Amino acid sequence: MASLIGKYSPLNGMFLTILLLTPFPSHSADPDLLQDFCVADLSGSIALNGFPCKPASNVTSEDFFFDGFVQEGDTNNTFGSLPTQGNVLAFPGLNTMGISMNRVDFAPGGLNPPHSHPRATESGVVIQGKLLVGFVTTGNVFHSKILGPGQMFVIPRGLVHFQINVGDQKALIFTAFNSQLPGTVIVPLNLFASTPAVPDYVLSKAFQVGSEVIDEIKSKFAA
Ligand code: GLV
Ligand code: MN
Repeated sequence: MASLIGKYSPLNGMFLTILLLTPFPSHSADPDLLQDFCVADLSGSIALNGFPCKPASNVTSEDFFFDGFVQEGDTNNTFGSLPTQGNVLAFPGLNTMGISMNRVDFAPGGLNPPHSHPRATESGVVIQGKLLVGFVTTGNVFHSKILGPGQMFVIPRGLVHFQINVGDQKALIFTAFNSQLPGTVIVPLNLFASTPAVPDYVLSKAFQVGSEVIDEIKSKFAA
C-alpha cells in the first residue's frame, strides 16, 4: 500500500478507490465450522456465539440423530398450526453446522402466523395438503402462491411470511434454515403479547386505531 501511495498515478489512484469501495466478504449465515463436529453442551456456562462442545469422548451416535419430527404436531390451538422446531436447542448435534429444520402441521384453515427469522433464510416443501405461502418484501410487495405436495418455496432472510392451509384436509410442510438457531419473531405476539407490554399509545399510533382496539387484540393473546 505504501509503495502504491508513494508512486501515485491516476491509474493506481483508481485502483485504490476501487479497493476501498469493495465490501469486505461477509457471511450471510452461521459461520463455517472448523472441526468435524461440536455437539452442543447445552448446560455449558461459557458465553460464546453458539454453544461449547461436549467432550468428544462423551459423543455418541445418538448425538447425530433426531426423532422430534416423528410425531404429528397438536394443532388444537389459537392459530390451528404447530411448528415443531428442530434447532440446536432440540438437536444439539446441529451446533456449528449452520443448519436446522422445522416440521409444521396445519389443521384445515390453520395459519402459521406472520413471522420472521432474523438469522436465516428459510426454504420449505409441502408434503401434504394445500397451502397459501406468502411473504412481504422490505418494499411492502407481497409475493404468494398456493402450493401442493412436492412444491417448494423460499423466504428471504428476515422477511415477514406465513403459511395458511387453504385445503379441507390437514397439511404438513418441512422447512429448512441456514442457521442452527434462526430465531422466530411472531408478529402478533411480538407486538401484542410482549413482557412488559408495548404501551397502548405506541400501538394506537402505529396502527391508527383507538386503544380499545389495541386492548381487544392484547386480550386475545393474554396468558
Ligand atoms: C415456517 O415458516 C417455519 O418457520 O417453519
Ligand atoms: Mn418461517
